[in-house]
This record gives sequence, C-alpha cells and structure tokens, in this order.
Amino acid sequence: MDLFEHQAKELFAEYGVPVPAGRVARTSGEAHAIAEEFAAAGTPRVVVKAQVKTGGRGKAGGVKPAGSPADAQKKAAQILGMDIKGHTVHKVLVEEASAIAGEFYFSFLLDRGNRTFLSICSVQGGMEIEEVAAADPDAVAMVPVSALEGVDRARAREIAAAGRLPEQALEGAAELIERLWEVFVGEDATLVEVNPLILTQDGQIKALDGKVALDGNAAFRQAEHTALEDAEAADPLEARAAERGLNYVKLDGTVGIIGNGAGLVMSTLDVVSYAGEGFGGQRPANFLDIGGGASAEVMANGLEIVLSDPDVTSVFVNVFGGITACDAVANGIVSAYKLLADRGETVDRPLVVRLDGNKAELGRQILSDAALPGVERVDTMDAAARRAAELAAAGKVA
Ligand SMILES: Nc1ncnc2c1ncn2[C@@H]1O[C@H](COP(=O)(O)OP(=O)(O)O)[C@@H](O)[C@H]1O
Ligand SMILES: [Mg+2]
Repeated sequence: MDLFEHQAKELFAEYGVPVPAGRVARTSGEAHAIAEEFAAAGTPRVVVKAQVKTGGRGKAGGVKPAGSPADAQKKAAQILGMDIKGHTVHKVLVEEASAIAGEFYFSFLLDRGNRTFLSICSVQGGMEIEEVAAADPDAVAMVPVSALEGVDRARAREIAAAGRLPEQALEGAAELIERLWEVFVGEDATLVEVNPLILTQDGQIKALDGKVALDGNAAFRQAEHTALEDAEAADPLEARAAERGLNYVKLDGTVGIIGNGAGLVMSTLDVVSYAGEGFGGQRPANFLDIGGGASAEVMANGLEIVLSDPDVTSVFVNVFGGITACDAVANGIVSAYKLLADRGETVDRPLVVRLDGNKAELGRQILSDAALPGVERVDTMDAAARRAAELAAAGKVA
C-alpha cells in the first residue's frame, strides 16, 4: 500500500523526522481557513500541494506557493479536481513554505535482486532520481544496508557523505536518515523516499516530500495500517472480495473471469482479450484467482462477486486441475449454484467452463450430468475464451 504525502509526513513526525507543519483540506474554503491559522501564527507564506499517489506533482502544476489566505484559497481551487497522471485530486496539503537553500534526495528501499536493503542518497534532489542517475551517475550513492546491522548514526553519516551532501547538511541529514531507518523497520515499509530532503536557509534539515510504500505481507502485525487505507479509491467489489479472502481485481471489460492459480488467470486474461477482438472488443471484467483448494463455498463466493458486477455479461471459469482435481471443482460449481439459490441469488448470465488437468474427464461428466441452466462446457482454453467473448458480446441473459 502506498501512502499519500501527508500520511507519510504524519508517520515521519511520529518518529521525530522534521517535516513542515501542514494540514489537509478537501475544499478551497478549508484551505483558506488553514492558511489563515498559519498567517495568524506569523507564517503568511504557504504551499498548496495536491495529494495524489503519483510523483511529478510539481511539474504537473499540483504544487503551488501562496502568499496569503485568499491566494491559498485560489490555488486550492485550481488544484482540487485536477487530473494528475490519471489521479483526480480530492484533497490538498496546505503547509508552511520553507526557505530552501538546497534540495537533496534520500531513500531506503527493499532491494529484492540483492536480497538486502538499499539506501540511495544524492546531493541532486527535487527531480526524478532516475534522471539524475542517467545524467550524472557519480552524483547518486547507492549504499547497501544489512538487515542485521541496520543504520546507526555513524552509518547514516557515511551514507550522507557518499551522496556528497554539503558539510553544513551532514549532521542534520545523518540524524534524519537514522530516524527514517526506524520508520522503514518500524512500519514494515518497502520504500521510504524523501525527495527533496532540504537544507533551509537557517540551517535546518527537513523532509519536504514523502513517499512510503508499506508491505501488505506485514499487515498482520501492523493493525494501525488499516486506518491508512484510501476508502475513497477502494472499489466496493474489491473490498467485498477481500473480506472473503478472494484475490479479486476489478477490470473494465464484460467477461467475468474465474480461474485457479495466478499464472493461469493472467494468461486467461490475455486469451480472452485476444478472442474478444473478434467480438467487438470484449475484454475481461476482472481478475479472480480462487487458488488451490477451490471448495464449493469459495466457488460460490467467487461467482457471487463476479456476478455482482453489472458490466459482466458472461463468465469464463477456467480451471486446470492439480492437487485440487477437476471433479472437486465441478462439484464445487454444482454446489455453488445450490448455495447461490439458497442465498436467493440466481445465476442469470451464461457460464463457460473449461476443465483440464487432473481428473478432467470426471469433472466434465459431473457438469454434463448436472445440466445446470446457462452452463456450457468447452474443453480447450482458446475455444472457451472465444465462446465466452461471443456470449458477452450478445449480452444475453441465460
Ligand atoms: N513546503 C514547501 N516549501 C517550499 N517549497 C516547496 C514546499 N513543498 C514543495 N516545494 C517545492 O516544490 C517542489 C515539488 O514538491 P514535491 O513535494 O517534491 O512534489 P513532487 O515530487 O510530486 O513534484 C519541491 O522540490 C520544492 O522545490
Ligand atoms: Mg518530490
């Protein structure tokens, strides 16, 4: 899970990382009120910043300085509702403007390739680090961090020096880096990035921007992280699927997809997209991996979620029997129909089922014998995808 800048900064502050004072506004009126408070406290100059989970907001016009509360209101009105790389701005951060003497780059990240952690530090901050690395690789220090040794003040100083931070910034940066390591470990992050890390004209070091990615695999020991989720952005179907422990991602097509195993489901998406081109551009409506042990209940939950999507006009169940054999899956589908009927839900759209692999023959027989209304068996993946796309295009209710 990626955090908004304001959330990242709130976390930083909890760990003693210096950040500019600021608050979130959802309307230009709120931005005015916040700027007024700053002005009353002797800080008339603020910066209004779009809160979207993507970088390059400054370049896109999503970060604007304002000299008065009225100006802050005007800038907020310009930024709210803006589209930045496909992200609509619903809120802005109004924070005190800093007098910047230098902008640097710093990050900690999980380096999967080297099975370790990495810190990246550069005297050239404010712009994309990839661009800096391409133009001037020597200006970017990449220092591995041992999970066992971590980062103490001495190590933090080494990192800051390797990034060629100026002498007067070294001590403050080292302190900030040491604390960011505590954020990284304490919050189970896979990325903590500060770009820019600034030296102010009066010699302070601050995190002026913040990007944090949290490791979802650590959710079990980070109960507070649920509060950081972006409820507005969450798809209601995805939320319902997550409650039921299903691996579901909503897409924008018409063919509902249910399969077992992430790899098979992904290739099913490709095959359906390809087949759909012949039927007016039908595309997958979702990704749904019911996993290894596809019980009747899991199948019923999966069908229910997929059929709750009003865009779905046909469903493709693509199963390759492995440890869970095809007969179990076929029985799962049959019981799922009963279960759904008991829940008062009828399957009102056509279902194309392809069973292959372990006990495929038996599974197919079970489906044929059950003669479920609207269920068609097609035994190859390509032909089944074509049929599902054809039915989706017809948009017929079975
Ligand atoms: N509080 C602030 N005070 C002064 N300048 C700021 C402030 N916040 C951002 N800036 C300026 O705007 C630039 C872009 O802001 P940043 O938060 O890094 O957004 P992004 O990386 O998405 O463009 C910074 O490099 C800095 O020069
Ligand atoms: Mg930035």
